Amino acid sequence: MKRIGLMGCGTVANYGHLPTILETPGLQLAALFDPDAGRLRAAQEKFGIADGYTDAEAFLASGLDAVTITSPAPCHIGNVRDALRHGKDILCEKPLGMDEAECAEMADLARAAGKMLFTGFDYRFSPASLKIRELIRAGAIGEARSLRLIYIWNNHGKYQRDAAGNLVLNERRVGRMLEGGPMVDCGVHQIDLARFWLGSEVTGWQAAGAWLDAYDAPDHMYLHMDHASGAHTMVEISYSYCYTAKEPINQFVYELIGTEGVIRYDRNAKLFEMRTAAGTTVMPFSPEKNFAGMYQAFADALETGSSDTLPTAEDGLVAARISRSATDTLIAKHREGAPR
Ligand SMILES: NC(=O)c1ccc[n+]([C@@H]2O[C@H](COP(=O)([O-])OP(=O)(O)OC[C@H]3O[C@@H](n4cnc5c(N)ncnc54)[C@H](O)[C@@H]3O)[C@@H](O)[C@H]2O)c1
Repeated sequence: MKRIGLMGCGTVANYGHLPTILETPGLQLAALFDPDAGRLRAAQEKFGIADGYTDAEAFLASGLDAVTITSPAPCHIGNVRDALRHGKDILCEKPLGMDEAECAEMADLARAAGKMLFTGFDYRFSPASLKIRELIRAGAIGEARSLRLIYIWNNHGKYQRDAAGNLVLNERRVGRMLEGGPMVDCGVHQIDLARFWLGSEVTGWQAAGAWLDAYDAPDHMYLHMDHASGAHTMVEISYSYCYTAKEPINQFVYELIGTEGVIRYDRNAKLFEMRTAAGTTVMPFSPEKNFAGMYQAFADALETGSSDTLPTAEDGLVAARISRSATDTLIAKHREGAPR
């Protein structure tokens, strides 16, 4: 049984990581850390974890085998440095770092410490994602040439109610835009999926973006990536689709277009199918996230010392490099007053 500690008892920890760790064979949820005593206490009570810390050093000295990091993105580098100094293996939420330099430092530190550092791209572990990878590898749609990966949503809307019931700006959405916007925050999943499915490295990329609202980063963004195989991936990500609508909707779509067929996945339509000359194959639909699969792979990695499926620090670095540089190019143009 491996003793796991979690750093950052916020939203994704509460709905994804904490319940999943508790249910994963081979893992014991041993201790929690959060600098916010209220959030720490709430998570301890909700998940029945007696051992809780607001001090990172005491947490890391509490006899853990590994840690999972679910703090805000700007805190990941500090958490990773601390955890590696204490010799812990790590599963860190995406984006791994705020930019390529942070990710490179983390990867170097992990290598020097002889510890495993994985990036929490949980979308990889959805049964639909794993099926897509299997189909692509088997040549079921011939050669995959064009991927359309779309996630446009409102990131919980522009406004929220404060404690007094007043309509105020949604802090979560503002925060995520300050951290780099939709491509750095969300699009990294799609960048990772394209590389994971195709097994082919990205050799070049271009970006375009639009501003629906007043931020540094574009809040509706397109990324075009070329792969070594000759395939092309388009990622479209927005945080401002229907962001002021009373009844917002969103789109979450994967389309993989090959020389001999097409694979289609649509979250809202609960659609997962393949169309080829042989006909249409309808496949079981599954949601795009799968924390259970990711933690089973983490438990296996802690047991064996390696993993074939868990995204590495290098995978986190590549996604951060592409998403950040694409976003920064657009911000620079925007500041110069170029047409956007
Ligand atoms: N994989 C996914 O599907 C998914 C979904 C949502 C969020 N995320 C990622 O998870 C991370 C956390 O997102 P969230 O929405 O849960 O954020 P959040 O703000 O809801 O929670 C973050 C928690 O970290 C705590 N914290 C602050 N500083 C800290 C530090 N230095 N060390 C440790 N903890 C600290 C905060 O007090 C808070 O409890 C982000 O990197 C985000 O991009 C991933």
